[in-house]
Amino acid sequence: MRTSRTSDTRAAVVCGLGSALPGRLVTNDDLAADMDTSDEWIRTRTGIRTRHFVEPGTATSDLAVAAGAQALGSAGLSTVDTVLLATTTPDRPCPATAPLVAHRLGLTGRPAFDVSAVCTGFLYGLSVAAGLIASGSAEHVLLIGADTFSTIVDPQDRASAVVFGDGAGAVVLRAGAPEEHGALGPVELGSDGSLADLITVRAGGSEQRSAGRRPTRADAHFAMAGQDVFAHAVTRMAEATRTVMNRVGWKTGDVDRLVGHQANLRILHAVAEQLDMERERLVVHLDRVGNTAAASIPLALSHACAAEELAPGARVVLTAFGGGATWGAAALTWPSLDR
Ligand code: ACO
Repeated sequence: MRTSRTSDTRAAVVCGLGSALPGRLVTNDDLAADMDTSDEWIRTRTGIRTRHFVEPGTATSDLAVAAGAQALGSAGLSTVDTVLLATTTPDRPCPATAPLVAHRLGLTGRPAFDVSAVCTGFLYGLSVAAGLIASGSAEHVLLIGADTFSTIVDPQDRASAVVFGDGAGAVVLRAGAPEEHGALGPVELGSDGSLADLITVRAGGSEQRSAGRRPTRADAHFAMAGQDVFAHAVTRMAEATRTVMNRVGWKTGDVDRLVGHQANLRILHAVAEQLDMERERLVVHLDRVGNTAAASIPLALSHACAAEELAPGARVVLTAFGGGATWGAAALTWPSLDR
């Protein structure tokens, strides 16, 4: 799917940014104390050094509210027209978590809904927000990406347990002009449901319930076919990035920063290689936080912004791959933000 805008349409302009990480910092050595892995394996195979896990009793909505409040403050707003929450770890299977988050942000009465596209959720949410703004249905949209994968990963599954972390990131988008700094350009999205088994939690849905099967321990936890996902992630993120660059008229050398889904440093390097892009242009945040799923891109943006890696007017491409399978990319110029 393509979300387009032309110079006579309203653009969605990023005007606020927020982030939240839970307090429990977990090092590779902490994980190695409880399972057959090592700091050396995790660092060399993924690039990850630390991640944050929620404390017992902290839910996805708690992180989402914290990041959302910070984004609203950064935008200088106390209200928005719509709240979108990209997540794969909602507080409950039913209802959606976004209405609760909106309520806790003082936005009761506003439309609020969850977007489910696993690690591509934030990009799917950007596309929805851009559409709401372009159609005149909203002037301001709060988009939050929040996940607590520590609550669905099997702590003894060393292939998954070492790569995920918890967190939330958020942006506020306002109606504006396509020429402004911060304006979202084209968004390219895709999916392939034939790959649904590559990244999955089998229990908890209609499929197993209607079959009357009792979920096993493995069914109840997140499962990922790491090597297959790796290959698809590289191909799809590079393709989507190329498509978005073509649509916006940027060559590889025009892109100041590529903010890829922070799953694995080797994946980011492979994407850069396919695009013939210097690694220095990659925003890298996974070393500190691991793969935070739907929170990954807005957290990386917050990190890059705080580290002054994103100057106003910088040309930025965002790209992600996730369960579904889903993938996408988006182009924008970086705004000047109050943080
Ligand atoms: N510590 C030590 N050894 C390990 C660990 C570990 N934590 N995990 C696996 N191994 C071992 C395996 O058992 C295997 O051993 P063997 O060769 O004796 O059989 C060996 O290391 C290699 O295993 P691989 O699975 O081939 O490891 P790989 O290099 O592929 O790394 C990883 C695994 C990190 C999961 C990688 O495949 C990856 O990053 N995949 C993509 C993840 C991704 O992009 N996710 C995005 C979407 S996620 C979402 O949407 C929620």
